[in-house]
Amino acid sequence: MDELKRFGVSIEKNLLKKFDSYVKKRGYANRSGALRDLIRKELVESQWSEKSDAEVAGAIIIIYDHHRRELVDNIINIQHDYHKVIISSQHVHLDHSTCLEVIVVKGKITDLFELETKLRVIKGVKHALLAKSTLGREI
Ligand code: NI
Repeated sequence: MDELKRFGVSIEKNLLKKFDSYVKKRGYANRSGALRDLIRKELVESQWSEKSDAEVAGAIIIIYDHHRRELVDNIINIQHDYHKVIISSQHVHLDHSTCLEVIVVKGKITDLFELETKLRVIKGVKHALLAKSTLGREI
């Protein structure tokens, strides 16, 4: 772990009250822990918003009806096209017709957005979500 540094923060009384309530609700032992997590969260989100060539990690979740044959072939073909950024995938049968797939990805931000878009626009995909995370090296 990196060396811890202390710094002073000036903050409006009302905002601090709300932050303390947040700290308590989220189960943090103190303000510092909560603030560190908020900073990390913002840094990860900021990196993704730049849509750069930076390397990140994440997961794509898709919900679809497996009865549509072409749809399943499309989903598999697209995943093969992006095999270099897909670490693993897990298929879950939610009910008789609905499938959930979690595709764990690692690679350039632009490639991961491209993959998520290609999966999302397939007819029959009911929901697609890209969980944006980090390789954790810089935070
Ligand atoms: Ni299934």
